[in-house]
Amino acid sequence: MTTHALVSIAVLLVVCAAPGALAQTVQVWSLCSPVNYTAGSAYGASLRGVLRDVVAAAGRSRDGYATVFRSQQVKDGAPYGLALCYADAGPPEVCRLCLRMAAGNVTLACPRAASASMLYNNCLVRYADPAADGRKLARPEPDTVQRFSFYNGNMTSAGEADRYGAALNRLMDRLAPAAAEAGANGQPRPLAAFGQTNITADESLYGFAQCVAGLSPADCRLCLQRIAASLPMTKGGRAYSLTCYTRFEVVPFYMPPNTARIVVAPAPAPAPSSPSRGELN
Ligand SMILES: *[C@@H]1O[C@H](CO)[C@@H](O)[C@H](O)[C@H]1NC(C)=O
Ligand SMILES: *[C@@H]1O[C@H](CO)[C@@H](O)[C@H](O)[C@H]1NC(C)=O
Ligand SMILES: *[C@@H]1O[C@H](CO)[C@@H](O)[C@H](O)[C@H]1NC(C)=O
Ligand SMILES: *[C@@H]1O[C@H](CO)[C@@H](O)[C@H](O)[C@H]1NC(C)=O
Repeated sequence: MTTHALVSIAVLLVVCAAPGALAQTVQVWSLCSPVNYTAGSAYGASLRGVLRDVVAAAGRSRDGYATVFRSQQVKDGAPYGLALCYADAGPPEVCRLCLRMAAGNVTLACPRAASASMLYNNCLVRYADPAADGRKLARPEPDTVQRFSFYNGNMTSAGEADRYGAALNRLMDRLAPAAAEAGANGQPRPLAAFGQTNITADESLYGFAQCVAGLSPADCRLCLQRIAASLPMTKGGRAYSLTCYTRFEVVPFYMPPNTARIVVAPAPAPAPSSPSRGELN
């Protein structure tokens, strides 16, 4: 990538950044396995190739934010790799830059680790030893632990918190299954959904949800609901696990192409006798 292109990305990121969002690509979390591979072993050499390949494949994908697994070399004991961009980050160049940084830094942060995960605000890179739990990258179980979160420091007031919380639940109830179903039937689309709902006549809440490929719709939904519930009720936030990601803001943010877009009707006047979730399914 040329310097000029890098400068354009930096400018674009600053311009597109919504209040409360990060204008830069930054590392937020990493985990190295305690088990090390032997220096100079074939595993270390294949690891470099696997990381290079998953990052290149994600970069070549039409939308720039594909989930990619490396499975061809598994017979030789090479690690599984995973590269995933969060589709709300912006255009594909943002994804490519993030993945290159993550792949470069994961080997610096975890020298000789047999398995490792590194989260950036805009992307995720993982690799794992097939002899240990590597296959979990290809057939993931939902990781319902919030690994990292950002949120707007302005807490909502007591009255607002109820309205915001209800709006967020309303959105998540629709975004979670939409994100899970977006990749069903073998569709290679990103497993992501973007939505909007009104908080009041003047205020909207915008939400985004994304799961890694290979999670069942039920597991994607469980993952998203758990990490969304882990956020405090403010005017914007993001939560990350190793298998899903969610974000909400009171201002619109980047809406990726080829993503399910959902408008959720505002809540009707409160009717205490009716179950709040039943109407949404
Ligand atoms: C918090 O609220 C103040 C006053 O409304 C506003 O100026 C500031 O930008 C807000 N901070 C964030 C992070 O949104
Ligand atoms: C693995 O390597 C790291 C970094 O070189 C080192 O800190 C750690 O103690 C090693 N772990 C084991 C189990 O040898
Ligand atoms: C590591 O990440 C930082 C930003 O978090 C980036 O500036 C740097 O170039 C990255 N290093 C490598 C080797 O990719
Ligand atoms: C929803 O909120 C937007 C502003 O965020 C407003 O323009 C629109 O009229 C509202 N719609 C309803 C049905 O309240």
